[in-house]
Amino acid sequence: MAELQGAVAVVTGGFRGIGLATAKQLADAGAQVALLDLDESGRRAAEAEVPGGRAFLCDVCNLDQVTQTVDAIAAEVGPISVLVNNAGVTRDNLLLRMTDEEWDLVLNVNLRGTFNMTRAVSRGMIKRRSGSIVNLASVVGVMGNAGQANYASAKAGVIGFTKAVAKELAARGIRVNAVAPGFIDTQMTANLPKRARDSLMAQIPLGKLGQPEDVATVIRFLAGPASGYVTGQVIVVDGGMVM
Ligand code: NAI
Repeated sequence: MAELQGAVAVVTGGFRGIGLATAKQLADAGAQVALLDLDESGRRAAEAEVPGGRAFLCDVCNLDQVTQTVDAIAAEVGPISVLVNNAGVTRDNLLLRMTDEEWDLVLNVNLRGTFNMTRAVSRGMIKRRSGSIVNLASVVGVMGNAGQANYASAKAGVIGFTKAVAKELAARGIRVNAVAPGFIDTQMTANLPKRARDSLMAQIPLGKLGQPEDVATVIRFLAGPASGYVTGQVIVVDGGMVM
């Protein structure tokens, strides 16, 4: 089913993990996909894995780069109709040990990056009176997590941002939703100590970690016409961890 035939989709943090799996899903749905990321080393492999995919180096925290890249995509690939704000980082630390740098980086990439991209891309969507935006939140933004005050704040912010912008842009034909993954097997979670991994696993009713594709298929649904009457929602993809 090529439900996104003719669409141009942008996926930030698209060179690996959930972003790359999402780019593949959107390409499979017929979209031309632009992958944005700042990790030069992953560029070639990512482009090779996404049929018709175009990779752009861009730091979502840097407003000049965001503006230039969004303009370049519109000119070289076409008008953007799907935006997936997936770029994210963690810098875990206990509150009293957390540095200003750790706080600022996590808030900047996860929350300001989402704001920068959404503002830049939604201008064109508003003119065309259509579009779908999907933001990556996290179950941590709903329930909190010790050692992740920065990340929990950023992801809770992403949820608030999603709902505010969904209300603002609904009348312009633009839908805005969020996906809140639980524990997904990517580089972001690869370095968790075995003890923390085991204790997390014990809290997952489905009894296994999620794969990037488990999140990507839900993003594909939210990006496309099958979810045409869904906006302002947060869909949790976590094997039943949070109910
Ligand atoms: P990952 O670490 O495997 O991939 C993140 C990608 O974002 C990387 O390619 C990285 O280079 C890119 N990136 C980082 N900073 C960037 C910036 N400033 N500008 C552009 N690109 C940047 O992470 P993963 O696991 O694929 O996560 C994707 C999203 O899903 C993130 O927003 C993350 O917070 C969220 N998430 C992940 C969960 C997990 O268990 N893996 C759980 C809940 C949410």
